[in-house]
Amino acid sequence: MSKTPEPAGSHAGVAAYRFDNRLDGPVLSHHERWDEMAAAHTGFRSTVADGYWVITDGPAVQAALQDWRTFSSRSVTVLNADPSFLWIPEMLDPPAHTTWRRLLGRYFSPSSVAAREPEARQVAGELIDALRERGGADVLDEFARRFPTLIFMRLMGLPEDDLELFLAWTHDLLHLSYDEDPDGSRQLSTMRAVSAYFDEQIALRRGSPRDDLLSHAMTWTIDGEPIGDRDLHAFCLLMFQAGFDTVPISVGWALYHFATHPEQRAEIVADPSLIATGIEEILRVYSFVVPARKATRDVEIGGCPVRAGEMVMLPLTVTNRDPERYDHPLDVDLHRKATNHVAFGSGPHRCLGSHLARLELNVAVEEWHRRIPDYRVAPGQELRAHGNMYGLKSLRLEW
Ligand code: HEM
Repeated sequence: MSKTPEPAGSHAGVAAYRFDNRLDGPVLSHHERWDEMAAAHTGFRSTVADGYWVITDGPAVQAALQDWRTFSSRSVTVLNADPSFLWIPEMLDPPAHTTWRRLLGRYFSPSSVAAREPEARQVAGELIDALRERGGADVLDEFARRFPTLIFMRLMGLPEDDLELFLAWTHDLLHLSYDEDPDGSRQLSTMRAVSAYFDEQIALRRGSPRDDLLSHAMTWTIDGEPIGDRDLHAFCLLMFQAGFDTVPISVGWALYHFATHPEQRAEIVADPSLIATGIEEILRVYSFVVPARKATRDVEIGGCPVRAGEMVMLPLTVTNRDPERYDHPLDVDLHRKATNHVAFGSGPHRCLGSHLARLELNVAVEEWHRRIPDYRVAPGQELRAHGNMYGLKSLRLEW
């Protein structure tokens, strides 16, 4: 069945569709829909809300992400070109962005991240051990979401007793479907709760600093000025979104992939040195982040005549599954020589947490297969993926 969205005529001479990225759908349907759109167009117009441009040419997506002067991060949400909120560093352009990245870089460098490996192995091992005897579980709820969230809470110095609260917030903030929250009020009230939580954490550290990233950030200065609570708050909100959802989604895809490709699972169990390439390939093939930018001037990209102030959606999946860029692009190839994917983005905003993400993913997959090498998708479930960032909603495995 075709996944192509409903045609809606044309806009400024370019094909238009009623294309809504927020809707959930059957497993892999989002990726397949992008493949179809990329095969038919280099770009198109979505008529959802006030409308926005969607670029489906792989090289053009990457070029736009690198050209921050033309494609600003002042807004990164296609449905809101003039947001009243700020996420730091995601919604800053250089030079303010460069200063923040320099300050943060040290905490996310390969060597800082490598120092967290023993702790990551211990946390992952304990979570998997608790599941092992049960013979089956929803691995997203009981492992993929818990593991990186715990590591991240430790990095930020947040109390682990709040784990359940964070898991519920992540769900309500990022994964409510339209039916569950038609007017967005549940999402808004969660945003308020998260904001209040971080205000409290910032105030606690102003009183007595600790040895955590949030306390350290309070000692930084930008242009000789200490960082104010407003910016610290904007930083916390971004870290919450960036760090809490992406790794769980990727762990979910990795377990789904190896559950549905038992021959590859046998290969990585026999030779765990293949896991690192497997992870890069899973990040590429199941790529799920869809950045957006606001044009600062009139520009043509992907055949679309974008006007200054308009929003442009830049799905990474079209670059990562581009048949011009990769042989057999849709296959996870455990032996691919160079994966050079853009799953972590490209240009100045390329993922700050990529080294941490890679560590967590490798640890999760290695520790899982060391303990539970043989498993399958439990029968009788309808697998569905979220909209926005395409991750599985749930995944029951049995072993
Ligand atoms: C597999 C997991 C991850 C993926 C696929 C991923 C992907 C991305 C992508 C594509 C961007 C660029 C967005 C854009 O250009 O608008 C990004 C930015 C970012 N990511 Fe990640 N990410 C992951 C994990 C993490 C983790 C674990 C952290 C932190 C703990 C993190 C922190 C950030 C931050 C702070 C930014 C903003 C960087 C900036 O604006 O300069 N990410 N990520």
